[in-house]
Amino acid sequence: MKTGTKIAVAALLTASSLTVFAEQATSEKHAKKSTEWRQATFQLIASNMGALGAMAKGKMPMNADLAEKNATRINQLANMLSDYMAVDTRKFSVETEALDKVWVDKEDFAKKIDALINTSSNLQSAAQGGNEGAIKQAIGGVGKSCKGCHDSYKKD
Ligand code: HEC
Repeated sequence: MKTGTKIAVAALLTASSLTVFAEQATSEKHAKKSTEWRQATFQLIASNMGALGAMAKGKMPMNADLAEKNATRINQLANMLSDYMAVDTRKFSVETEALDKVWVDKEDFAKKIDALINTSSNLQSAAQGGNEGAIKQAIGGVGKSCKGCHDSYKKD
């Protein structure tokens, strides 16, 4: 792809993710459902992180195939986050740990999502390479992108 085309595509993608983020919850029910779905997405992400963390810490033998599978799932789920985080539920009383900033600092929040997309993609490549040290390092990178977002956008 030519650089010019790439920039145009990137601009389009940015514009579309911002449009998605503008969606408002229309009722208490809608807000609750949207909250459940975004939390369920994070639960699935976390369910794939457990084994990765254990392998990185040496609490479980390194298994490059498993690392690749879980990295692929996290990458797919990370790609869903801009949709599942899109509904702004601030006007309704929902049980959430999401800070209001999610729907205010949209551009920065989108960058935090991109970080998880990129680090999980790096882990896929490292797992394919099969080098244990590189895999552990890449798992650390994924963990940093969880924390990097939580520090700014999730209640403690
Ligand atoms: C782009 C920002 C972002 C990234 C990246 C991110 N999180 Fe979160 N996470 C959140 C927010 C915001 C919430 C609060 C959601 C809510 O309560 O509505 C959350 C909630 C959670 C929850 C609680 C879900 C529940 O049932 O309430 C878990 C578990 C979690 N994240 C794990 C992870 C893991 C593991 C990673 C990395 C692999 C990760 N998150 C990456 C923003 C992020």
